Amino acid sequence: MTILITGATGNIGRHIIRLLTAADHSVRALTRDPAKADLPAGVEVRAGDFTDFASLEAALEGATALHLMTAFGPANTTVPNSRDLFAAAEKAGVRRVTLLWNGYAGPVEEAVEASGLEWTHLRPGEFMSNALGWAEQIRTEGVVREAYGEIGHSPVHEVDVAAVAAAALTEEGHAGKAYMLTGPEVITVPEQVAAIAAAIGKDVRYEAEPPEGARERMRALGFEEDAIDYVLGWRADPPEFARTVSKDVEAAAGRPAKTFAAWARDHADAFR
Ligand SMILES: NC(=O)c1ccc[n+]([C@@H]2O[C@H](COP(=O)([O-])OP(=O)(O)OC[C@H]3O[C@@H](n4cnc5c(N)ncnc54)[C@H](OP(=O)(O)O)[C@@H]3O)[C@@H](O)[C@H]2O)c1
Repeated sequence: MTILITGATGNIGRHIIRLLTAADHSVRALTRDPAKADLPAGVEVRAGDFTDFASLEAALEGATALHLMTAFGPANTTVPNSRDLFAAAEKAGVRRVTLLWNGYAGPVEEAVEASGLEWTHLRPGEFMSNALGWAEQIRTEGVVREAYGEIGHSPVHEVDVAAVAAAALTEEGHAGKAYMLTGPEVITVPEQVAAIAAAIGKDVRYEAEPPEGARERMRALGFEEDAIDYVLGWRADPPEFARTVSKDVEAAAGRPAKTFAAWARDHADAFR
């Protein structure tokens, strides 16, 4: 078995690779820049880009399973030519596919459902790792400024998304399932800030930020207006799947989803 992982250097892909290699599966990693990939020894690293179909076809050669991000890059561009991509995957000998959605069921999910592949949809709400965006404010000022922070949400640990992906790529029983992946609790930003403060043993303040202030801050960081609208719209009124608790991590991975307090301990060094 050779399992091809896209987004291999990203938040989810790195953990899928760690889990698969620990279980002695043979892993091939796709990245645009193998020289910078910094992946574990034993992983076969292949150059490839979602915008270069031939590179994907080449990476699929001999693969028996595939983990696919459905969107990529700063504008969350949908992976193009997905019907052709799945046809190439079938031709190469792929049987199982996991798809990491981008918050909605789009053309890539439709294309896999129309293929002959055994698919599993991974549908996370918000990643806990988005909180790494607060690291600089916490390190330099001991503060987190965020708009709509009092509105509860149920972010998921990246390790939990990866654990469900690893199970679906290697075990029977996950084909045709759509897993809603959340953390085990609904939590507010002030509660997340308190968990980070406890993990680093230092006071961290939460300051409610007016939406216009958040807009200005994101503009200064180089965000496009569309992306700012999306983020602020989501924070003001998260979709139901991102503010309720699903049991799907436990059902698919065989253990409870990790708390934000555990995530904060796992990432404490980033905030010190
Ligand atoms: N953040 C969230 O809360 C959230 C929630 C739900 C779903 N998602 C989805 O989860 C996925 C990962 O999101 P993330 O924010 O955590 O990002 P991330 O893991 O940091 O993603 C970056 C990854 O995308 C790869 N990539 C970027 N452009 C590429 C291209 N043109 N061709 C091939 N690979 C490319 C990068 O590979 P190289 O640089 O090595 O080439 C890297 O491995 C995205 O599809 C996102 O839409 C995110």
